[in-house]
Amino acid sequence: MSDHQLRVSKIRNGTVIDHVTGGQALNVLAILGIDGSAGESVSVGVNVPSDRLGRKDIVKVEERELSQSEVDVLSLIAPEATINIIREYEVAEKLRVERPDLVTGVLSCPNHNCITNANEPVESKFEVVDDGVRCTYCGTIIRKRIAEHLDAS
Ligand code: CTP
Ligand code: ZN
Repeated sequence: MSDHQLRVSKIRNGTVIDHVTGGQALNVLAILGIDGSAGESVSVGVNVPSDRLGRKDIVKVEERELSQSEVDVLSLIAPEATINIIREYEVAEKLRVERPDLVTGVLSCPNHNCITNANEPVESKFEVVDDGVRCTYCGTIIRKRIAEHLDAS
């Protein structure tokens, strides 16, 4: 997007999560646990025009540099996302999200009888498989709409 089309201002320091699948920006924030409660500045663009994707979302988090392991879980809902670490207004690093092998503590298992839903101190754990994610404890597979299984707690 050229500068005269910029909808969200450039940031000085922080992380820009770009090329997010249209409509997934708020799920990106939920997965990362970013809700503004720490006083961080967060800007979100939803369904902005993109040459590559047609429509995309974009998330800018100031004064926070996300790590590769923090962003990899985003591949489940935004596989095309590019992560830009910004320092003094310049893109200092550009990362791609990579599909992780395991997702721990982010999703909740849809099986009500699963040990992870039994008020036991057991963190949810899903193995990433070809067609979705598979609960390590009970084998339930979540295939579609993974964001609807975000762990609210
Ligand atoms: N950006 C920002 N603040 C800065 C620098 C960059 O918000 N100080 C944003 C840009 O608006 C863009 C993203 O970070 O959305 C990546 O910047 P850049 O690599 O310069 O843009 P492109 O070349 O368009 O990126 P790509 O090749 O990933 O499409
Ligand atoms: Zn389970």
